Amino acid sequence: MLTVHELSGLRQWRADMRSAGKRVAFVPTMGNLHRGHFSLVEQARESADAVVASIFVNPTQFGPNEDFASYPRTLSEDQAGLAAAGCDLVFAPDVATMYPIGVERTVRMEVPDVSTGLCGDIRPGHFAGVATVVARLFNMVQPETAWFGRKDFQQVLVIRRMVEDLSFPIDLRVGDTVREANGLAMSSRNAYLTNAEREQAAEIFRTLTAVTESVRAGRRLGLIETAAVDRLQGAGFRVDYVSIRRAADLSVPTEPNEPGLVVLAAARLGKARLIDNLLI
Ligand code: PAJ
Repeated sequence: MLTVHELSGLRQWRADMRSAGKRVAFVPTMGNLHRGHFSLVEQARESADAVVASIFVNPTQFGPNEDFASYPRTLSEDQAGLAAAGCDLVFAPDVATMYPIGVERTVRMEVPDVSTGLCGDIRPGHFAGVATVVARLFNMVQPETAWFGRKDFQQVLVIRRMVEDLSFPIDLRVGDTVREANGLAMSSRNAYLTNAEREQAAEIFRTLTAVTESVRAGRRLGLIETAAVDRLQGAGFRVDYVSIRRAADLSVPTEPNEPGLVVLAAARLGKARLIDNLLI
C-alpha cells in the first residue's frame, strides 16, 4: 500500500490505474479509523480493482466551537488498518494541498433542501463544508465508485444530491452501520467517551430500536418522538433531536404507516456529540 501526500502523486497513480484498465473505488475519511471505515474499504475492494482512501480532517466542516483542533489524528495506526483491509493507496493531504488558495477564498458548494433541518440546523455550514471537500476529493481522485456509511444518513443524501445535480460520473454506494457489541454505532468521536459513557451511549441504539417497534405498531409519530427524547434525557443525554423522517429526502411524514421511514437521533454525552439512525 502506498501513501501520498501531494496531488501530483495521486494523479500519477490514477493515470497508471487508467492505463491498466483498473476501476477505482474511493472511501473518503477523516482518519482515526475503526471497523466502520474498514468495512467500507472491504466492500469497496469487492466492487473495484483498486481502492483509494483519503485521510483529511477537513477544517471547512467544523464550526468555530467544534473539535477541529482536538480531532484525533492517528496516521500510522490508520495506515496499518487500511493495508489490512485491502486499500491500495492512501491520500493524506495537508490543508494547503486541499485548499491551495486558502480556506477563506476557496470555491464552496451549497446543497439546499437536504442540508437544512436535523444536523444542518444544529451545525450551520457543516454540510456545505462536507460537500465542498468531497467535490474537491472526487475531482482529485476521479473514482468510478465512492463509498459512504449510512451512519451519517443526512451526509449521504447531501452527497447524493450533489453528485446527481452536478452530474459527477460516480456511482455512490452506501455501507451499513457497524456497531459495538452493545449496539453503539462506531465513531471516531467515541474516543471522547469514558468506558462508563460507552456503555451508557448504547442507550441511543436501544431507544432507536424501540422507536422502530412503536412506529410499526402504529403509534402516533409525534408521541413516539417525544417519548424517545424523554428516554434519552432520562439516561443523561443532552438531546439535539430524535426525528422520524422519510428516508428518501428527510421530509416529514404525514401518515404514521408510510413506508420508507427512518428515525434519526443526535445527542450529547460527556465530551461527545453522537448521531445514529435506523431504517424502519
Ligand atoms: P468520517 O467520520 O471519518 O467517516 C468516513 C466514512 O465512514 C463516512 O462515509 C461515514 O459515514 C463512515 N462511517 C463512520 N462510522 C461508521 C460506522 N460505524 N459504520 C459504517 N460506516 C461508518 O464522514 C466523514 O468522515 C467526513 O464528513 C468526510 C465524508 C470524509 C468528508 O470530510
